[in-house]
Amino acid sequence: MKKLIIAANWKLYIHDAAEAKKNIAALKRMHDLLGSTELLVLPPLPLIPAVVSATKGSGIAVGAQAVSPFEDGAYTGYVSAQLVQEVGATWALVGHSEQRAQVLDGIPAAGATLDLVAAQVRAAHAAGLRVLLCVGEHERDPSGAHFSEVAEQLQTALAQFPNTGTKLAIAYEPVWAIGKSANEACTPADLEEMVIFIRRTLTELFDRKAAAKVPILYGGSVDAGNARELLVQGGASGLLVGRASTDAKTFIELLRTIQQ
Ligand code: PGA
Repeated sequence: MKKLIIAANWKLYIHDAAEAKKNIAALKRMHDLLGSTELLVLPPLPLIPAVVSATKGSGIAVGAQAVSPFEDGAYTGYVSAQLVQEVGATWALVGHSEQRAQVLDGIPAAGATLDLVAAQVRAAHAAGLRVLLCVGEHERDPSGAHFSEVAEQLQTALAQFPNTGTKLAIAYEPVWAIGKSANEACTPADLEEMVIFIRRTLTELFDRKAAAKVPILYGGSVDAGNARELLVQGGASGLLVGRASTDAKTFIELLRTIQQ
């Protein structure tokens, strides 16, 4: 199998440094089994330093779940890409649907707009972070409107990205498939079609060779039952795993299935 990127999006499921360290210790114990697979852990922001220290020398990368588009100034509550880079993060997740959402758990939210996501991509890249840009439609549309939705997300977010496409990866996360069970996830056939579409959209933004190299991950209800088929039949270059990545035993089971 090609070199994969597996990202563990801990969201707000991990609540303290002790739990984070326990998870990392378990991942380190099985790291040899992973071969060339790149592992990325995305903890809640305040836990980044603890996870950076726990992963030291292991080859496991650490990233921020979100970064502010701003570097300096009157931005109460924002955390800049420079700050997370300074405490050891090397990746930033940008444009996750839970960040873009207008309503979260029934509460109106200040969801990130296309312009805000584009500014976050620019800030993360400027700080030297690798960018994992999330795109994905809200619902599948028989007339194919979901393709336009994804294209618009890519075009706006990457309009000013260097056309070498380096330090960029895309995570295709259909919103309807996030946080469900594996049988409600995207099918490998639908994923394969979307991976081809995303690749084609990238060739319009970057030069062809550069576009071919950008990893395209899948996320949304991935677990040990569907991880392998999404990679092999769906043609994804990796996975962005939420809930199933937060319990070390469950995550390791998933990682084992993709090594077979
Ligand atoms: P899930 O989350 O695996 O819990 O569906 C994926 C994500 O939102 O990154």
